[in-house]
Amino acid sequence: MAQIGSDINIAREFLDQGGLVAIPTETVYGLAANAFDANAIAKIFTTKERPSFDPLIVHADSLEKIANFVEDIPDQALKLAKAFWPGPLTLLLKKKNNIPDLVTSGLETVAVRIPRHPLTKLLLETLDFPLAAPSANPFGYISPTTAQHVEDQLGDKIPYILDGGACTVGVESTIIGFDNDTPVVYRLGGMGIEEIEKVVGKTKLMPHSSSNPAAPGMLKSHYAPKKQLILGDIPSLLEKHKGEAMAVLAFQETYSDLEHYHHLSEKGDLNEAAQNLFGKLRTLDNLPVDKIIAELVPNEGLGKAINDRLKRAAAE
Ligand code: TXA
Ligand code: MG
Repeated sequence: MAQIGSDINIAREFLDQGGLVAIPTETVYGLAANAFDANAIAKIFTTKERPSFDPLIVHADSLEKIANFVEDIPDQALKLAKAFWPGPLTLLLKKKNNIPDLVTSGLETVAVRIPRHPLTKLLLETLDFPLAAPSANPFGYISPTTAQHVEDQLGDKIPYILDGGACTVGVESTIIGFDNDTPVVYRLGGMGIEEIEKVVGKTKLMPHSSSNPAAPGMLKSHYAPKKQLILGDIPSLLEKHKGEAMAVLAFQETYSDLEHYHHLSEKGDLNEAAQNLFGKLRTLDNLPVDKIIAELVPNEGLGKAINDRLKRAAAE
């Protein structure tokens, strides 16, 4: 079992020694290591059983520190950084040589983000290096939004979990790269595309892929529970699967005649739904059922990221 606590000095000691520490961010918990230390980074991949073609996000607490490991910050990127950092936005920037290739899976760009969580901000301020951190879950499974989620799955593999409470956003950061000057959305996430487009104009969406090496990590099936997840119209699916052991995850609706039902937000609030999404999926995954039936949410604001995660959770 990992030690769970909120002492950034303990976290710093493990990180200074090249160890792994789970850290809270506003989006999801990350599994962090010194981004300049290839040995420490290798531990992230083995601990998560993550394939080495899936690159990591590097976290820092200031643009000055980021300038130490990226070649430059183009105008469009700087506009986004100034508008939304610290926050749930990741930018793809050209890396310097001090970022090991393992971090970027050999790509020329490194994914960078300034997270907003106060505890992790304090931790980053005291460190002499940025933190590479993927979500702190076994590869392909649901991302953790509490310290307990991390403990449940990685507790026997890491020494310390920095507990910063439940994540306030609940889905991973939005990832934006640049094709010349055009902003490209590599992953929908906690920062709404509508807000991003107000700052840099029209974006283009990079499609998912299960094999395209130009878009590593954008796997079609991801964020997935162990139980089969079926998406669609809940009443019709209930009818179709009558008699089977099922759990239901609705957006607002309550299905109180069912034994296992949950909803994401009774009042239909997409921010609350995002906060609840991964925790509810974990809860449902642990119920004595064979299938999870779920529906999409309104496709606006954070709803786009929620629907993206639901579709990937449902993909074969
Ligand atoms: O909110 C978040 O982004 C969380 C917290 C901990 O910051 N992190 C997170 O990391 O979700 P992870 O590793 O689970 O997802 C990072 C994604 C991967 O799917 C990867 O493919 C993509 O970022 N990525 C990283 N570097 C990239 C690059 N240079 N080009 C394209 N995609 C990249
Ligand atoms: Mg992840």
